[in-house]
Amino acid sequence: MDDFVDRNGRLHAEDVPLSRIAESVGTPAFVYSRATLVGHFRRFRDAFAELRPHVGYAVKANGNLAILRLLADEGARFDVVSRGEIFRVLRAGADASRIDFEGPGKRKDEIEYALDRKVRILNVESEAELDLIDEVAAAKRLTADVGLRVNPDVDPHTHVYISTGKAETKFGLDIERTRRLAGTIAERKHVRLKGLHAHIGSQITEPAPYVETVTRLLDLGRDLRRAHASLVSINIGGGFGIHYRGDEAPEMKEFAAALVPLLRGSGFEIHMEPGRLLVGNAGVLLTRVTYVKRSGEKRFVICDAAMNDLIRPSLYGAFHRIEPVETRLRHGSGGQEGGSGGRADIVGPVCESGDFLAKDRDLPPVEAGDLLCVRSAGAYGFVMSSNYNARPRAAEVLVDGARFAVVRARETYDDLVRGETADPEWIP
Ligand SMILES: Cc1ncc(COP(=O)(O)O)c(C=O)c1O
Repeated sequence: MDDFVDRNGRLHAEDVPLSRIAESVGTPAFVYSRATLVGHFRRFRDAFAELRPHVGYAVKANGNLAILRLLADEGARFDVVSRGEIFRVLRAGADASRIDFEGPGKRKDEIEYALDRKVRILNVESEAELDLIDEVAAAKRLTADVGLRVNPDVDPHTHVYISTGKAETKFGLDIERTRRLAGTIAERKHVRLKGLHAHIGSQITEPAPYVETVTRLLDLGRDLRRAHASLVSINIGGGFGIHYRGDEAPEMKEFAAALVPLLRGSGFEIHMEPGRLLVGNAGVLLTRVTYVKRSGEKRFVICDAAMNDLIRPSLYGAFHRIEPVETRLRHGSGGQEGGSGGRADIVGPVCESGDFLAKDRDLPPVEAGDLLCVRSAGAYGFVMSSNYNARPRAAEVLVDGARFAVVRARETYDDLVRGETADPEWIP
């Protein structure tokens, strides 16, 4: 469910025509709906209300400051995976005590930064990382609250690149190592076991892998709690799938129906860290058609957005619905050379055959200058964008009812070369 709707033949973001945004801000541009974002957050929290869940937004999905501020105002916590993400959350005005720091490769400076700012917890993924946190905490004469990220060896049935809960992935600790490391924590003076954590993957569209994961986490938690009175929280991760095609994801309440009975009365604080679920369908990518051409039997619609703006189709073969912003075009006919409807590859101008937004897709006749709306682009969209082919990164726009604001300016050509020099100052 989202607030990108057809009104009088034109796609709107809430009450603002997307064409108005394109005229004012240019293309490509990411457009986010405040109402959709806030609605998703509230529906998620309410679905799990019985557990009084601590909902930590996974910042990696979309770290724009305006998005972070909106979620902070809604009472969200934050799951971060780098010093940069902590910096962003703090810059958005949220409190460090609402941050959980994850990730398998935290550097020493990142651990120092997190401890200095007093984040809620650092989730540990290896013996070596625990040693380093202990050492940094000792130097600061404090005790660090840590969690153990468990790799429960559960198959989330998702794309292999976003599957993180199987034993062969680089994430977390197997159950035996988790127990051993809990023992090590008990012997150390500068770390204290506060939580258990698991995140098994992303775009998960069935409750069963969560049920397996939560069952393992709870068994382990109940055991470990005997020796660790400080163990108060269980974090079941993010990964809840969304509609890209239109019907693949279960309702939030279906996930809740499977998980609440397992978790109620556990005595643990229950933490969750959805990213995609909150922002994915709260954003679209607006792009303008530059050319339409044919090659053999194929129709190519060449747009001004490319793999550098939205890499998901090229990286994962991900599907994004794409439709013209003007309804006239969605149902129309006719057009220019190669402009008749039917199947098309919707591509960008980047010099890679892997540069596409959609392949072999039904698309009405469109012409140069027409606007297209790439749906479900709010998560893992802008954050994964790059300057490849020396393309300035797109603008980001937030819509709130009948008004909109640029929440990240389009990069300039000067931005492209910031920090570079053609005349090196050599260091002997
Ligand atoms: C540790 C952790 N938590 C949460 C998430 C968020 O996943 P999603 O956006 O699918 O909810 C991720 C994503 O990779 C993650 O690595």
